[in-house]
Amino acid sequence: MASSDGKNKKAVYTKPTNAEKYELLRQKNEEALKGGGEARINSQHDKGKLTARERIELLMDEGSFEETGKFVMHRAVDFGMDKQHYLGDGVVTGYGTVNGRLIYVYSQDFTVFGGSLSETHAEKIVKIMELAMKNGAPVIGLNDSGGARIQEGVVSLGGYADIFYRNTQASGVIPQISAIMGPCAGGAVYSPAITDFIMMVENTSYMFVTGPNVVKTVTQEDVTSEELGGASTHSTKSGVTHFSCANEVECINHLKKLLSYIPSNCEEQPPALPYEMSEDETRPALNEIMPENPNQPYDMREVINGIIDSGSFFEVHKNYAENIVVGFGRLAGRSIGIVGNQPASLAGVLDIDASKKAARFVRFCDAFNIPLLVMEDVPGFLPGTDQEWNAIITNGAKLLYAFSEATVPRVTVITRKAYGGAYDVMNSKHIGADLNFAWPMAEIAVMGAKGAAEIIFRKEIQEADDKEAKLQEKVEEYEEKFANPYRAAHRGYVDEVILPSDTRKKLISAFKMLENKVVNNPKKKHGNIPL
Ligand code: HXC
Repeated sequence: MASSDGKNKKAVYTKPTNAEKYELLRQKNEEALKGGGEARINSQHDKGKLTARERIELLMDEGSFEETGKFVMHRAVDFGMDKQHYLGDGVVTGYGTVNGRLIYVYSQDFTVFGGSLSETHAEKIVKIMELAMKNGAPVIGLNDSGGARIQEGVVSLGGYADIFYRNTQASGVIPQISAIMGPCAGGAVYSPAITDFIMMVENTSYMFVTGPNVVKTVTQEDVTSEELGGASTHSTKSGVTHFSCANEVECINHLKKLLSYIPSNCEEQPPALPYEMSEDETRPALNEIMPENPNQPYDMREVINGIIDSGSFFEVHKNYAENIVVGFGRLAGRSIGIVGNQPASLAGVLDIDASKKAARFVRFCDAFNIPLLVMEDVPGFLPGTDQEWNAIITNGAKLLYAFSEATVPRVTVITRKAYGGAYDVMNSKHIGADLNFAWPMAEIAVMGAKGAAEIIFRKEIQEADDKEAKLQEKVEEYEEKFANPYRAAHRGYVDEVILPSDTRKKLISAFKMLENKVVNNPKKKHGNIPL
């Protein structure tokens, strides 16, 4: 500044008062809450989407959210970025409680540079993940992002890799759940893919490695974002998402419900609800579910719902590989993971998708101390070139491996068919199940009676005057010998043959007995599951 005597004088710095400092803090807090500003918030709402902060508000217990890194700003200078700063840099991070339990969260703010991931945005997420790991509580990622912050180049890619690395380190230590509530494209998809569960919102979220334009250029296919990577595609065709939710509120409610079944880390037991045993835990209605004709389908969900605590079944991957049903439930208040063959879809056969779906679920339950209940009615593995050429061998082995290495309490109920290799795979005694029950209708054999008779009595049948009658005679002979649970029970492969109506009672008692189970697999760096 030029003074009247012509000499330069320094600008006078007036030290702010405490009141002014408080005011500055208030202003900064207010600015941070605005994200990318009102116009962009309105545009977010117009698309049917909530803002990053509104989502956190819905998720967390009221008043429990504590924010970290609220004033973080990016450090980029290229492309005019030195003139554009938003406090928080496009992601809201912090911790709080959901139904009283500690949870860490990051929520991408699409109103700030499209929620794109900068170096500092990534650092905030990494910080939250590390806190979560050190303190043993789940991390929830609410994803809504245009991907790598284009103005930052490789620095942004590095940020993604920093997150992927933490996702992998955290896997099996703390539960990680991703909700996709907007775009999630390019390499960005790989963070959710490593997490334990993905939820997507119908019509407003999509996930793909390359978008419709690149697809068109490379393969000449015309496809919309929704068709290529929307919630319905990923919940039915690819199985990438475990849940498809009608809207964001439903998605957050699903998140909360899922959390209610799982422990906060791998050292904890899953939360249990108080339960008073009733005098009579029998369920007579279960005696009426099984059709007389063993080839007639029934809905395994009905059996599951009839056994577990009323209304407690929370299905995972509902619309994908429907020939197997997986989900969480409660038995006398305690959380269990359920895997059931589904006779109402493809006769409950095991195929590639069903094996992968169930194997991933079994591994989650085992990693987080959730006992496993297997409801078995399986005619075998699905035959065909499609299955063989797409590696049913490797994929079926995933489920076999997952059950074999699981050390949580494991109980199987064979309701009807347990045929062939699938008998072994579906948590048989031989691969470490603790207790195996069978209903009186169980058929435990290498294959169905007709197929078996046709093979082992081929010559006899061919030479018979009445081939049909001979075949029928041999089928009946085989059925009499093997289409029952008693051969297996004589061997001890089945611990008890029980009435369907007693199943709940028996299972409550079995899981109670197994409460303190300890099994140590052989010491190793890690196994080599057939991937
Ligand atoms: C910086 C971005 C951005 C990005 C969006 N924006 N994506 N800024 N980096 N990646 C900004 C926009 O400039 C705009 O700023 C605001 O966010 C909203 O974007 P719109 O385009 O107006 O929104 P919308 O029409 O809803 O479209 C959303 C979109 C589109 C489909 C996501 O923005 C888009 O295609 N973005 C680029 C996606 C992309 O190619 N990302 C890189 C992918 S590769 P203003 O100021 O106008 O509000 C990648 C590699 C990761 O991610 C690899 C990890 C290993």
